Formats: sequence, C-alpha cells, structure tokens
Amino acid sequence: MSESYIQNMFAERIGGANFGKDTVIYKFEKIKRAKMAAKKAHPGVEIIDMGVGEPDEMADAGVVAKLAEEAAKPENRGYSDNGIQEFKDAAAIYLERVFGIKGLNPETEIIHGIGSKPVLAMLPAAFINPGDITIMPVPNYPVLGTLTKWFGGQVVSLPITKENNFLPDLDSLDSDTRKRAKLLYLNYPNNPTGASATREFFEKVVRFAKENHIIVVHDAAYAGLMFDGEKPLSFLTVDGAKDVGVELFSLSKAFNMTGWRLAAVAGNELIIKGFATVKDNNDSGQFIAIQKAGVYAVEHLEITDRISRKYSRRHDMLVEVLREVGFDARKPKGSFYLYVEVPKGIKDGRRFESAEDFSQYLITEKLISTVPWDDAGRYVRFSVTFIADGIEEEKMVMDEIKRRLSDVEFEF
Ligand SMILES: Cc1ncc(COP(=O)(O)O)c(C=O)c1O
Repeated sequence: MSESYIQNMFAERIGGANFGKDTVIYKFEKIKRAKMAAKKAHPGVEIIDMGVGEPDEMADAGVVAKLAEEAAKPENRGYSDNGIQEFKDAAAIYLERVFGIKGLNPETEIIHGIGSKPVLAMLPAAFINPGDITIMPVPNYPVLGTLTKWFGGQVVSLPITKENNFLPDLDSLDSDTRKRAKLLYLNYPNNPTGASATREFFEKVVRFAKENHIIVVHDAAYAGLMFDGEKPLSFLTVDGAKDVGVELFSLSKAFNMTGWRLAAVAGNELIIKGFATVKDNNDSGQFIAIQKAGVYAVEHLEITDRISRKYSRRHDMLVEVLREVGFDARKPKGSFYLYVEVPKGIKDGRRFESAEDFSQYLITEKLISTVPWDDAGRYVRFSVTFIADGIEEEKMVMDEIKRRLSDVEFEF
C-alpha cells in the first residue's frame, strides 16, 4: 500500500510524521509478548499473573443491582454534564466518614470524573501554558506528565527511593523550577511502590505549595485500601491543603469498579471550576445510572473493608513466600502493590542487568508475570490482584510460586 498523506499529518506531540514507526518496544508490550511466548513454550503450565493493576473480582452484587435498577429508568437516560448533585452529596459524606475531610461544599468543591485517569489528563489543559512545569515523582502513573508535555509544558522528575521513604525531596528543586512549576503530582498509597505518605510530609507539601504558588494534585486512587488498622490519610485533612490543591478519589480500586469509570475530585473551588470548564468541553458526564450505583457504593463502606481484608491477607502470604527465597519484601500499609528490589543474579549463574531483565527471566523461565521499574533503583512490582477464588486457591498460588522459585538461589 502506498503511504497515505495522513502519515504526514500527525501532530508532533504523538510523533509527527514518524507516528507508529517507532521500533522501540515499550515495557507493557514487552511483558505481553513475553507472556505469549511463555504460554507457547509451556502450553500445559499456567502463568501466575502478578502484573495486572486491577482487581480480580467484579463489583459488589448490590452495586450491580443498583445499576440495573437505575439503568431501567427513563429519567436517567441523558447527558449528565458535570454530574448529578446526588453523587457529589454522597461523596462529601463518604469523604468525611472514611477520611475525616470536613467542611467540603458538595456544590462547588466536589465534581465527578469518568474515572481519575481523564481527570489527570484534563487538568493540564486548565493550567499549563508552554514552558510551565509539572513536578512528578518517579516512578509514577504518567498521565498528568504526558498531557503537560502535550500542552507544551515540561516535566521535572523527583526520584522516590528507599532512602527518602518514597517521598520526593522538594528541597532539591532549584529556584527556576520552583518559579515555573504550576502542578505537583503526588500519589499515596503509591503505584508502584506501595508507599504511604505521612502527615508531616503533606504539611511540608502545603507549605512548599504556598511559598512557591504551586497547585497540588493528590491522586488517592488507592486510598481506601489500608491494612492492619492503618487509617487512610487524606491530603485534604492537612491544614491549608484546600488552599493549594485537589484530591482524586477513584471508585475503581476501592470498590472493584475499574471498568465503570467513576471518580470524585475534591478540594479547591477554583481548581475545580477550571477543571469543570475543561471537562465540559471533553465529555458530557458519566451515565447517571453509574453515578447512582456509585452513590450506593460509597454508602456501603463494608465493600472496601472486605476488599482490603482480602488484599491484606494476600500480601501477608506473598511477603512470606518472597522472603523465604531471599527478597527483602515488606508489606505495604495500603494498595495492592508489593515493590521489591530485584536480585543481582543467580548463584553461580546468570546476572540480571536490570529489573526488566529479571522480570523477563521470571516470566520466561518461571511463568510468573510482574512489572519491572528501572527508573529509580531496580524493582519489580507484584500485584496481589492475581486470580484466585478464596483462601484455598490463594494458598495454592503461593505454594506454586514457592515451588517454581525453589530450585534457584538468588544473589542480592
Ligand atoms: C496511581 C493511579 N492513578 C489513577 C489510576 C486510574 O484510575 P481510574 O480507574 O480511576 O481512572 C490508576 C490506575 O491504575 C493508578 O494506578
């Protein structure tokens, strides 16, 4: 086929005339390919998938029933624009009950999003002019940074490492960066590190934001999922936070609703107003029946409690198995991610050049899928969202991991 003129029309932000010709294979594609190859090479052996970043279960039966009921009502059929008040009111009550966020005005300080991903994608349109900076911890969930660049902005990275307790060192930023920075992205409990923030850190963030006139976007996608009596920590419960930022609460992980696409953005009224204007030009709101099912979900906190207990139990099991084979695995306070440093190699055997190399080894030789991160140290991310129906099956998965790893001695 001769080359279409369309090839020369792509915007520079997605590669210009070279769009689609990139020969670099990206991480997630590599994992997918390695999984397919491993399946082919070992047709009878099941892959243990610890790579996926979404729940293995469907939404709660009550939520599903509520959707069916609401979907059947003619009055719910149309555009919802910037959302129904009922969801915003329910979100305000939920945020106070679960996180202790007091005094939010559900009319002006809360808005829904069709998941938190599009919220992160749209916020730069409201704030980023060419040359402006978004500060991003590394590793990260990249959407806010990607869209910042698409709007002509720049991303400044701050590594989060074991040494800084996976909390970015804001003091390391130079004065030019502080002057040009408009957005600071934070995400706790964190994907991929599983780390939680501290109140002291959030207090410092508020001071830093006020001093330097920066907007804080705290992505609390995993905030409901806490273990062993740990209380979820909301950025908005810190004094002054509402003057400087917004916090994003997703129903995806805390209520097993990834495909449903529903989130709440809460915090500074002006930031929300700017976001609402951009949103109004991007979408026409989530289906009202889904928002109503979301109301049901946030009124039933036991759903998140049950999900958290499951992940907590799985973390306990996985930490034990990984420690037995030599990993320095530590259970996170929240989230479904277990982030562990990779071995240097195998005793008297191969060396691992990088986390990616190790992750490829795990999938190819052991049929265990993980996600590697080489951005700040060498780590793989295990997610306790692997498929298993109940404790007995979870134990079988763990026994199988132990068995597959028992014939090697890793060197760390
Ligand atoms: C840190 C983080 N933020 C946001 C999202 C997207 O969540 P949502 O389903 O609400 O768009 C994810 C999903 O994996 C995530 O890990």
